[in-house]
Amino acid sequence: MEYRFLGKSGLKVSALSFGSWVTFGEQVDTDLAYKQMKTAYDAGVNFFDNAEAYESGTSEEIMGGVLHRAGWKRSDLVLSTKIFWGGDGPNDKGLSFKHIKEGTEAALKRLQTDYVDLIFCHRPDLYTPIEETVRAMDQVIREGKALYWGTSEWSAEQIRIAYDIARREHLRPPLMEQPQYNMFHRQRVEREYELLYDDIGLGTTIWSPLASGLLTGKYNDGIPEGSRLDLKKYDWLKKILLETEEGREKLEKVKKLAPLAKELGITMPQMALAWCLKNPHVSTVITGASNVEQVKQNMSAMEVVGKLDDQAMEKIEEILDNKPAPEQNWRN
Ligand SMILES: NC(=O)c1ccc[n+]([C@@H]2O[C@H](COP(=O)([O-])OP(=O)(O)OC[C@H]3O[C@@H](n4cnc5c(N)ncnc54)[C@H](OP(=O)(O)O)[C@@H]3O)[C@@H](O)[C@H]2O)c1
Repeated sequence: MEYRFLGKSGLKVSALSFGSWVTFGEQVDTDLAYKQMKTAYDAGVNFFDNAEAYESGTSEEIMGGVLHRAGWKRSDLVLSTKIFWGGDGPNDKGLSFKHIKEGTEAALKRLQTDYVDLIFCHRPDLYTPIEETVRAMDQVIREGKALYWGTSEWSAEQIRIAYDIARREHLRPPLMEQPQYNMFHRQRVEREYELLYDDIGLGTTIWSPLASGLLTGKYNDGIPEGSRLDLKKYDWLKKILLETEEGREKLEKVKKLAPLAKELGITMPQMALAWCLKNPHVSTVITGASNVEQVKQNMSAMEVVGKLDDQAMEKIEEILDNKPAPEQNWRN
């Protein structure tokens, strides 16, 4: 395993990490979660990702149970949670001071830990002033309930505003973003956040590196039984990923990527994950899995990054044909 600094901080996260969205509490019970997390841990994963929203807290409870059972040294782990969707009450959602305090405390209980290393604002909250959120996150950190805070799916402008408020008010600034990033979803990580990497030292913990499984090729000939896009509850995801014109185009590209993976002697999941790992602005690639075999396969992506040399990356680029345009250089 490779360990990368999370942005400009001194914290190191495993380049491949493990998260529990969709899976824990839906496809994965406590026993399987233990086996999956142990497999990931044994492969060198130190960062485990969660959120108060995942299965309404059940996902955190399962992870907390696994951590208790495994008895790993707390200092060997980087744990996260994300705050935004905590329940149905008027104050159970969003990024108010109240929900950040109460949501964080409830998450820590479920995770059976005194602190999370990383805490994320799971989405921007259009109703809470960013200054209120920055103050709340600063307070959570001052109280020792989290060590670093960041955002998820915030625009570059929102991140910059939060950062500037924190600097002006001598509060802890956001360190990391958790954006979607994969071969089909590139704009934010490759273009929109470009200035933030150097300017504020932004780190990224990227999600859905396999586009929910699409990039494994498993949907090339229909929907396998029990797969994510076969789950009733995630019908909306199936509609987006498979039943739109854009979705169909993506599937065609996946089919074209398959022979290239074969030529390189790697699997499709390896290729898609290694492709994300190649981006130096990616601090960690959060993987997800519904069984232990997938965890093993995904961890093996680490070994094949070298196979994606310039020539291979160019061939992938030709097939994807979706590279975000660089900023216009007006001096040329
Ligand atoms: N911040 C956010 O808003 C946000 C949003 C989403 C996710 N996340 C985080 O990011 C993590 C990863 O996201 P994700 O689960 O969407 O990642 P992903 O890698 O795009 O999809 C993972 C899913 O793909 C399938 N899969 C994984 N490895 C496979 C393999 N080797 N072969 C075949 N199928 C495979 C599994 O689904 P099936 O076997 O069921 O088909 C698995 O659950 C989450 O757990 C969560 O921690 C964050």
